[in-house]
Amino acid sequence: MMMSRAATRAARSMVMGMAAPRYFSSTTTAAAAFAGLRCNETTAFKLLNGVGHHVSGGSSGHVPGMVAGFIRLPVRNMSTATLHDNSSEEKEKTVTDSAGENGGNDEKAVVSYWGVQPKKITKEDGTEWKWSCFMPWETYKADLSIDLGKHHVPKTLLDKLAYFTVKSLRLPTDIFFQRRYGCRAMMLETVAAVPGMVGGMLLHCKSLRRFEQSGGWIKALLEEAENERMHLMTFMEVVKPRWYERALVFSVQGVFFNAYFLAYIVSPKLAHRIVGYLEEEAIHSYTEFLKEIDNGNIANVPAPAIAIDYWRLPADSTLRDVVMVVRADEAHHRDVNHFASDIHYQGRELKEAPAPVGYH
Ligand SMILES: [Fe+2]
Ligand SMILES: [Fe+2]
Repeated sequence: MMMSRAATRAARSMVMGMAAPRYFSSTTTAAAAFAGLRCNETTAFKLLNGVGHHVSGGSSGHVPGMVAGFIRLPVRNMSTATLHDNSSEEKEKTVTDSAGENGGNDEKAVVSYWGVQPKKITKEDGTEWKWSCFMPWETYKADLSIDLGKHHVPKTLLDKLAYFTVKSLRLPTDIFFQRRYGCRAMMLETVAAVPGMVGGMLLHCKSLRRFEQSGGWIKALLEEAENERMHLMTFMEVVKPRWYERALVFSVQGVFFNAYFLAYIVSPKLAHRIVGYLEEEAIHSYTEFLKEIDNGNIANVPAPAIAIDYWRLPADSTLRDVVMVVRADEAHHRDVNHFASDIHYQGRELKEAPAPVGYH
């Protein structure tokens, strides 16, 4: 039976009413000072310079009040998670997080019947560890000595396909972002964090299906995904995406996740090679980012607190230091993915070569 036009309109309005604020809303609860500064890194960086590190905090996005006080929805993943909104906090008093995914250092207790409470973690200097999204033992010092200029010369047809796929993606990216490297970095990290998770998930399922070990590759790829996501968590401290950029991420994720999923099933050799070349492009992008900082087009503001803790940077580190360590990470991802592709090229399976777990 066909749905009447009125019913269709009502359904559409309900879906958009629910989904749009969650997924596309660029409305933040940030102070008015942030209004209109989204994805404008230069201005945002300058502003941050003035406000220090107080941009992280609770995820007080716009969730319908009826729901907000009752459960915390995972759809907050599109929230800008910037500054606190007192009214939302009031509604969420019954169920709150104790430390906050974004490093909120509040002392609000979680009501838990199950007795599942995180242990109190401290830093080496005895001060409280304020992050719940990563732990002190997951932090590291980036290896800045890695060779940034290494390049895999495409020889086979499959390699050339991977290379030109990545090169062809660069053109629209250059046109869209131009020299807004902060915004570009943040947006591209939303894509970069996908392959590791997809590859890790597929290897996980394969391990279950075949009753066999993965050689550590599940862990290595999931580590890569996590590392990329931390890049995003860092850059979102200094760049605020506009609503249409959020919508773009939403759409690109839908396409890229599925395309990469299929590519990995059909040819992991090709999938890893594509990521290897994507990482080479990422190194280039971050090198340009550094040039923009050095010539003064992007303010070299203090590093976000999350970056200082994650990469064990000195307390007086700046954005430049952060871009340096992120670029080093990308070089490591490049090596891991080209290596994975090479293993397949040799007619072997990934599990036959010990995975570079902890390779940062
Ligand atoms: Fe990254
Ligand atoms: Fe990367």
